[in-house]
Amino acid sequence: MRRNILVGVAWPYVNGEPHLGHIAGMNMSADIFARFHRIAGNNVVMVSGSDMHGTPTALKAIDEGTTPEKIATKYHKIWEKALSDMGFSYDLYTNTHTKEHEAVVHDMFLKLQNKNLLYEQTQSMPFSEEEQRFLPDRFVYGECPHCDETKARGDQCDTCGVTLDPIDLVNIKSVRDDSTPIFKETTHKFIKLSFFEKNLKEWIKTRTDWRPNVVNQSLGMIKEGLHDRAITRDINWGISVPVEDKKYNSKSIYVWFEAVIGYFSATKSWAMKQGDKDLWKKWWIDDDGETYYFQGKDNIPFHTIIWPAILLGYEGLNLPTDVVANEYLNLGGLDFSKSKGHAVWVRDFLERYEAEPLRYYLTKIMPETSDSEFTWKGFVESNNNELVATLGNFVNRILNIINKNYDGIIPDPISINEDDQVLLDLCKNTLDEIEMSIDSRKFRKALNHMMLLAREGNKYIDKKEPWKLVKKDKNLCSTSLWVGCNIIVTLGTAMYPFLPKTADKIHNMIFDQSDTLKDGWKIRPIPSKTRLKNVKTLFIKLDESVIDLENSKFKD
Ligand code: MF3
Ligand code: ZN
Repeated sequence: MRRNILVGVAWPYVNGEPHLGHIAGMNMSADIFARFHRIAGNNVVMVSGSDMHGTPTALKAIDEGTTPEKIATKYHKIWEKALSDMGFSYDLYTNTHTKEHEAVVHDMFLKLQNKNLLYEQTQSMPFSEEEQRFLPDRFVYGECPHCDETKARGDQCDTCGVTLDPIDLVNIKSVRDDSTPIFKETTHKFIKLSFFEKNLKEWIKTRTDWRPNVVNQSLGMIKEGLHDRAITRDINWGISVPVEDKKYNSKSIYVWFEAVIGYFSATKSWAMKQGDKDLWKKWWIDDDGETYYFQGKDNIPFHTIIWPAILLGYEGLNLPTDVVANEYLNLGGLDFSKSKGHAVWVRDFLERYEAEPLRYYLTKIMPETSDSEFTWKGFVESNNNELVATLGNFVNRILNIINKNYDGIIPDPISINEDDQVLLDLCKNTLDEIEMSIDSRKFRKALNHMMLLAREGNKYIDKKEPWKLVKKDKNLCSTSLWVGCNIIVTLGTAMYPFLPKTADKIHNMIFDQSDTLKDGWKIRPIPSKTRLKNVKTLFIKLDESVIDLENSKFKD
């Protein structure tokens, strides 16, 4: 049975360029998951887009003396290109500044309002007398009331993850000029989060296969008691509030309330583009629709509490199957952070190096259960020792022997002995293990199984020494090369979720008409008398000097 799998990737704020921390946090895992399920024959829709609105973009626009729309549009394009250059296979990468998204947001807002799940209330909000404006969300910072963080923001503390209101911050300051704001009353629409507390708690407790960090953080917040939250803001960059009331003319919907709706609106937009406007229902309404959300850990409460509350309120739409949150990727012990200026930018990186070795390294060090560290040494070594020396070398030395001694035609096996069978069994087993690991969102483990096959393949070939056998015993030689080719073909399939281009290259060297994706998640038999196509080197060795060169850029 084909499963219907929605892969939602967190929508990046477009107030800066993507860096490797973003990619390792959300995109890489989502893409592996989506690619695996496609090749396994499931119906996958992978959606995301740029999170255009809110204070991050508004602040950047003030800094640069331009409009938020210009900033958002500029970085949206940069993100779109970088994601595509990385080989991420979005079915739709859109943004939140579209008519379609606005219409869905308005519909959801109004439905919740009609069901009495929204109400109006005044609230005390920071206000800058200097600038004569309210300071919502990221316009302010202060000490987190729950942990030691001194730079928590108006809507969230990134260190402990809790969502906040500005009034919760101790020693609140404006990010614009470090001045202390006054507090002023303002009226907003609130969502009755408290109403969903019990349901959310019970539902999260049923999610036994979620990562512990996601469950614990969410239950921790619920235990503190869910407070109703304002879902409108005094800011004019955002989606309009769909009410006939003048005081809302200068307000917008809170960016997080509308951005999470993006998963739903984007699936609808995708369906329209497919020419079947109801197609989204398979994922969102049908009981067996599965929805997965990939993101960094600072996004957890928005996906496990706020978005599910909206869905419960709206009724009839599927709750998340899993919220897959990674920890952070650090750089030399520092957080990858645009604001602190320490980052490796995707665009920069791809000007000098290939995407696939980066996909490999970022999966290998993916911060799945704890923070991890990107180092240039690690990148160069994983490229040289693993991709070049283990994987690439295995493939090329077998194919080169065949080219040299068998006229480029893969020899048929003569007789399969126990040694050979062990490797043929390992091929089958590798696909099974990767399948299980990816389906349970364990991506590092899955990658390890792929590399294990390459390493075992190398050991096998080292033991058989076909370059010697070719002169001594051609029968034995043929069998070992044939087994080797089976391993190569399986590696091509097994690496598809991680290294899709290399996977295609490998299959194209062996099969006439090859489409790795269409050929599916199974052992592909090698037809007798298969002639090798154009055999190419798969990976390029990097000079060790890259390490010092790149590291020197961080010394200031
Ligand atoms: N823009 C947010 C961030 O960069 C993520 C939004 S995810 C969504 O942290 F679900 F709201 F879209
Ligand atoms: Zn905190």
